Amino acid sequence: MKQAPDIPTHAIDIWYAYADRLIASDSIENHLKVLSDSEKNQLGRFSLTRVREESLASRLLTRHALSFYADVAPERWQFAKGPRGKPYVVSPWQDFHAFNLSHSANLVVFAIARHGTVGVDVESIDRATTGIPLARRFFASQEVEQLLALPPEMQRESFLQIWTLKEAYIKAVGDGLAMPLDRFFFDLTAAGPAQLHVGDGGQAGTEWLFTQLRLPSRHHIALGVTHPMLTKKSNKQQMYVRAREFKSTQAPITCADVVCTEKNAWYFHQEAK
Ligand SMILES: CC(C)(COP(=O)(O)OP(=O)(O)OC[C@H]1O[C@@H](n2cnc3c(N)ncnc32)[C@H](O)[C@@H]1OP(=O)(O)O)[C@@H](O)C(=O)NCCC(=O)NCCS
Repeated sequence: MKQAPDIPTHAIDIWYAYADRLIASDSIENHLKVLSDSEKNQLGRFSLTRVREESLASRLLTRHALSFYADVAPERWQFAKGPRGKPYVVSPWQDFHAFNLSHSANLVVFAIARHGTVGVDVESIDRATTGIPLARRFFASQEVEQLLALPPEMQRESFLQIWTLKEAYIKAVGDGLAMPLDRFFFDLTAAGPAQLHVGDGGQAGTEWLFTQLRLPSRHHIALGVTHPMLTKKSNKQQMYVRAREFKSTQAPITCADVVCTEKNAWYFHQEAK
C-alpha cells in the first residue's frame, strides 16, 4: 500500500463540510461506528452541542476524506498526536503528517498534501472578537502597524486574515500556542500572497507558501504548507488549492468528483519566491 495520498506535489486538497448538514446525512448510530473508542469518549465530554457537532463532523470528514486516497475503510484509520497535540496518521499509513484540520462556526475544514507539513485555520468573518487591542495583545508590532495604516473599515478584514494566517502557521509547525505569536509576522502589504517573516531579523520564510480562500458562507480559510520541493529556490513552483465540499457520508466520493472544474472548485496559484 502507498503511504501517502496520490496528490500532485504542488497541490493541496481542501475538504470542507457544514457540521449540521454532514451529521444529518446519516444516523448518529452509523456515524459513531466510524469513530474510535477514544474519539467517542471525547465527544461525550463536550457539554455544548455546537462543540460536539463540530468535533463529530471533523472526525467524520477526516476519516472519509483520507479514505478517498486509499483503499481503507474510514473506521480503520488510527491516529496519534504530536507533543503539542497535532494529529497524524499511524496506521495503515505510517507516520503520515501532511494534513491538518480546523473548525469554527459550523464549518469543518480538512487540508491534505502529498508530503511536507500543512496547517489550516478557519474563522467566520462575522466573529465578534477582532480589533486593534486584540492585535496589540497577540500580533507582532509589524502586523499592528499594518492594521493601523489602514482605514478603519478595512482593519477588521485584515485582522482576520492575519489571525488565520498566524494560526495556520503555528498549526503547520505543530507548536500551537507554545510558539510566541509576536516572533513572526505576515506582510499583507506586498502584492501577491501573504509573506511570512521569521527570526530576529524578520527574514522571509521562503520555504513556506500561504494562501487564503473565502467561502460564500462567510468563512475565511488560511492555509500554510512547506515541503522540500518548495525550498528549492531554483525550482520556481506554483501551488494549487483544490477545494470541495463533503456533503454526505453516504454518497461515495469518486475521482470524478474531485477532478476540479471551475464550476465546483476554487483555484489559487502561488509562486515560491
Ligand atoms: C489548538 C490550536 C492549535 C488551534 O486551536 P483553535 O484555533 O481553537 O482550533 P482549530 O479548530 O483551528 O483547530 C483544532 C484542531 O487542530 C488540531 N490540533 C490540535 N493541536 C494542534 C497543534 N498543536 N498543531 C496543529 N494542529 C493541532 C486538532 O485536529 C484540532 O481538532 P480537534 O479540536 O477536533 O481535536 C491552538 O493554537 C489554540 O488553542 N489556539 C487558540 C486561538 C488563539 O488564541 N489564537 C491566537 C490568535 S493568532
